[in-house]
Amino acid sequence: MARINDHYLKLKAGYLFPEIARRVNAFQQAHPDAQIIRLGIGDVTEPLPPACIEAMHQAVDDMARRETFRGYGPEQGYAFLREKVAQHDYAARGCQVDPDEIFISDGSKCDTGNILDILATGAGGNTIAVLDPVYPVYVDTNVMAGNTGPADARGEYAGLVYLPATAQNDFTPDLPDRRVDVVYLCYPNNPTGAVASKQTLKRWVDYARDNDTLILFDAAYEAFITDPAIPHSIYEIDGAREVAIEFRSFSKNAGFTGTRCAWTVVPKTLLGRAADGSRVSLHQLWNRRHTTKFNGVSYIIQRAAEAVYSPQGQEQVRQLVDFYMGNARIIRQSLTQAGLACYGGVHAPYVWVKTPQGLTSWQFFDKLLQEAHVVGTPGSGFGASGEGYLRLSAFNSRQNVEEAVRRIRDRLGVPV
Ligand code: MLT
Repeated sequence: MARINDHYLKLKAGYLFPEIARRVNAFQQAHPDAQIIRLGIGDVTEPLPPACIEAMHQAVDDMARRETFRGYGPEQGYAFLREKVAQHDYAARGCQVDPDEIFISDGSKCDTGNILDILATGAGGNTIAVLDPVYPVYVDTNVMAGNTGPADARGEYAGLVYLPATAQNDFTPDLPDRRVDVVYLCYPNNPTGAVASKQTLKRWVDYARDNDTLILFDAAYEAFITDPAIPHSIYEIDGAREVAIEFRSFSKNAGFTGTRCAWTVVPKTLLGRAADGSRVSLHQLWNRRHTTKFNGVSYIIQRAAEAVYSPQGQEQVRQLVDFYMGNARIIRQSLTQAGLACYGGVHAPYVWVKTPQGLTSWQFFDKLLQEAHVVGTPGSGFGASGEGYLRLSAFNSRQNVEEAVRRIRDRLGVPV
């Protein structure tokens, strides 16, 4: 009989979002007439930008002719897309990122999990820090890799360094009080919606340089930043090329959650340490991993992603982002007027709501579902410091968002 990876047994039974879906489906079955509005998982609802659709149609036609047909593409992504990303997302912001430092993939969720393949695992491996609350993938994949001990009663895994993000620190925790080997940062933040200023990111980069720390920077929500002073990429900070890997995505800005396209930047200047103390290029390791375990994103999808950078695509993506941020504004303003303490929702499509009347996150989730037929995401699902909060996503139609906040105000009896 095959031996299993015992580390999986340390995990909570289900991943957060499927667990929520399970509870919502059970409620829907028991109440078939309830018109449930889902503001839980951050999944987009609006159609793809027309420029992307047009590019996909053309790419399908390419596949129909022998002269333009494509089989296996480069595992790292087609040059036409890597060059556009390098130009628009980096050079245009004054960052130096070369096209061959960009690895096109099918998602940041996969990449932030898979990156552990090239890092030491288990005892004697790396000390790893995460913000708390945190996107659960960072923690769960470290548990799977054997980088933690068991979870305690609060759900915190032994061996991880948790950096609490609280209202007191504006949900942007300070540097760790000790040396860590790896830190995951996500700005604009999922789930709190907090952002990091240039000074904050510089402190992290300086810390990483001083301590030989690797920053895993998840910027999947950068398109939602509304203040021009806030950095969109960690590479806007001098010295970041020596300490940071960046994860980016077309999921939230261009609505590719179902289409799947993202990228990871691994600068050639970034090094890790081997067991014998020698320094090794992480770019080479990630390239080796990517070419061995991944066969590239489909040509049709990469053409669609390329179209995001056309003048029409840029305008259409801007409209999509503005639309969702309009939803975020409505959620934040209406619930604040109703007496709920709300954070985020200004530079991110998530509003982080303090639960009323001392309810736990799951109690408020249940109340919202049962009384308003609105689905949120319990803050405690993102970590112990998320207890007492609930995340509402701005990804839905305007009509649904307006109806959801109206129901929360009218039916929930939250303090007004
Ligand atoms: C979320 O709701 O946090 C996101 O959908 C997560 C993801 O993009 O995987």
